[in-house]
Amino acid sequence: TAAVAVRAEISYIMVKPDGVQRGLVGDIISRFERKGYKLAGLKLYQTPREVAEEHYKDLSSKPFYKDLVNYIVSGPVVCMVWEGKGVVATARKMIGATNPLASEPGTIRGDYAIEVGRNVIHGSDSPENGEREAGLWFKEGLVSWEQTMTPWLKE
Ligand code: TYD
Repeated sequence: TAAVAVRAEISYIMVKPDGVQRGLVGDIISRFERKGYKLAGLKLYQTPREVAEEHYKDLSSKPFYKDLVNYIVSGPVVCMVWEGKGVVATARKMIGATNPLASEPGTIRGDYAIEVGRNVIHGSDSPENGEREAGLWFKEGLVSWEQTMTPWLKE
């Protein structure tokens, strides 16, 4: 009886337009790689307004919603899906508090931002939202690493 494959936890992580324009993409990717997570999706993307609105729909009644959507569509973002044990909660720790002035030094926002409206990066807040957001931003699907850890890596 074959075991049912359980998909690993995923988080949708996005470098926002300020992070892209400030050249922070490499550092951010590097942090997740070094931590040990696996990249399951990656692209540079000019966000359609409908996608930004859908992504933040739970915040649509907030006074900052319009500015938030305008910010997300203001320039290319880097969309990523990272996969692995505890990735949603751990990524949130690595990203830091929503308000960068409250983010601990050593976190991404703590190291690189001072404005809540220019806080460099997004990370899903639950595994369910990780799945939802990955589906929204990667309608083309994710890439699987299954059967990819080939022997040549260690040869
Ligand atoms: P939220 O989902 O509360 O935070 P997080 O990104 O840490 O999950 O809010 C989404 C984004 O909305 C947040 O990254 C920045 C923006 N925002 C503001 O511009 N002003 C605010 O007062 C808040 C709470 C968020």
